[in-house]
Amino acid sequence: MKKYLITGCAGFIGSNFVYYMLKKHEDIQLVNLDKLTYAGNLENLKGVEGDARHIFVQGDVCDKALVQKLFAQYDFDCVINFAAESHVDRSITNPEIFVATNVMGTVNLLQCAKEAWQQGGGWAPGKKYLQVSTDEVYGSLGADGFFTETTPLCPHSPYSSSKASADLFVMAYHDTYGMPVNITRCSNNYGPYQFPEKLIPLMINNAKHHKSLPVYGDGMNVRDWLYVEDHCKAIDMVAEGGRDGEVYNVGGHNERPNIFIVQTILSQLHDQLGDEEIGENLIQHVTDRLGHDRRYGIDPAKIRAELGWYPETSFELGIVKTINWYLAHEDWMENVTSGNYQKYYDEMYKNR
Ligand code: NAD
Ligand code: DAU
Repeated sequence: MKKYLITGCAGFIGSNFVYYMLKKHEDIQLVNLDKLTYAGNLENLKGVEGDARHIFVQGDVCDKALVQKLFAQYDFDCVINFAAESHVDRSITNPEIFVATNVMGTVNLLQCAKEAWQQGGGWAPGKKYLQVSTDEVYGSLGADGFFTETTPLCPHSPYSSSKASADLFVMAYHDTYGMPVNITRCSNNYGPYQFPEKLIPLMINNAKHHKSLPVYGDGMNVRDWLYVEDHCKAIDMVAEGGRDGEVYNVGGHNERPNIFIVQTILSQLHDQLGDEEIGENLIQHVTDRLGHDRRYGIDPAKIRAELGWYPETSFELGIVKTINWYLAHEDWMENVTSGNYQKYYDEMYKNR
């Protein structure tokens, strides 16, 4: 039985990964270490309650004693690090926590894995550390071309700088100690369980409640959208078959300007709910994000050629599935937007 330490899996991508893995693999053990920050929610994991293959541990990836204890207890074959502070806007107002979790947390996991997996002069067989990273470490594209795995790192935001730092540490553990590692760098994910501070769930929720839709700047920044289940599949494939020390970019090859995404959501919700108050009059162009990257784009040629991965869900299908999921999970939305959500949201937008 393969044993995984998965971190941050009460969040958006991680919870989807838990569902994906338990459906795909019969004989696995997932130990899910999550601090349960504002972005982590046990509601996201309700569907796996009672499944003995998933064990939830509340804790911090920076807690060395706890991570060492988990390694001693479970003798992991694979670590997949999803845990992060993940929101660019929050990193602009509060960068320190991004360094703590994204950089120090990653180094702690690497060090604990090294202590547990290094035997004599070598490494125990069959082990792997996989870092879930982001295309934002490459910076911003102009009108042409795509990020490749050899594009130089050029992060701009505190978030992407912390992710790039973490990636450098992962490669340092590979190059210095020979640790078996992979890094995946993915484009923008969308789908169920995404916290409504990110573009798509925020816009769905606001439109449904006839609140204004804050589009940063001219709305022509481009993101490359990938349905979250396709990302989960890619991570599983890299964990299984990725070549030691390699980086794999994961993208939908599906670039859209933000304004197009917002218009699509509005027209879909308008038609589906038959609500005449949902229309483009709700769009409000607000002050741009500081240091806003203009365009991200990935041609996932390497992961396709080496591992046979490709995005299976078209954007046209994925966005309808996503909107339907949020409409069918009003309780979830109410749950995650209780507490400090409104206060944060008001703070975030009061000057825009
Ligand atoms: P998220 O914010 O939804 O979830 C992050 C999870 O990490 C939460 O459950 C949170 O409680 C947990 N966490 C935060 N700090 C922690 C700590 N110190 N110790 C333990 N757990 C902690 O994030 P997401 O969107 O699911 O992103 C997951 C990973 O994928 C991140 O590493 C992110 O950088 C990367 N990524 C995200 C996207 C995207 O579009 N969302 C794209 C590419 C890469
Ligand atoms: O590219 C991968 C990255 O995608 C991940 O590494 C990050 O963790 C994830 O949060 C995401 O980052 P973005 O900054 O691209 O995602 P966000 O949903 O915050 O914003 C998407 C685009 O929409 C971006 O150009 C900013 C814009 N935007 C966002 C919000 C929240 C708006 O115009 N209005 C908004 O209210």
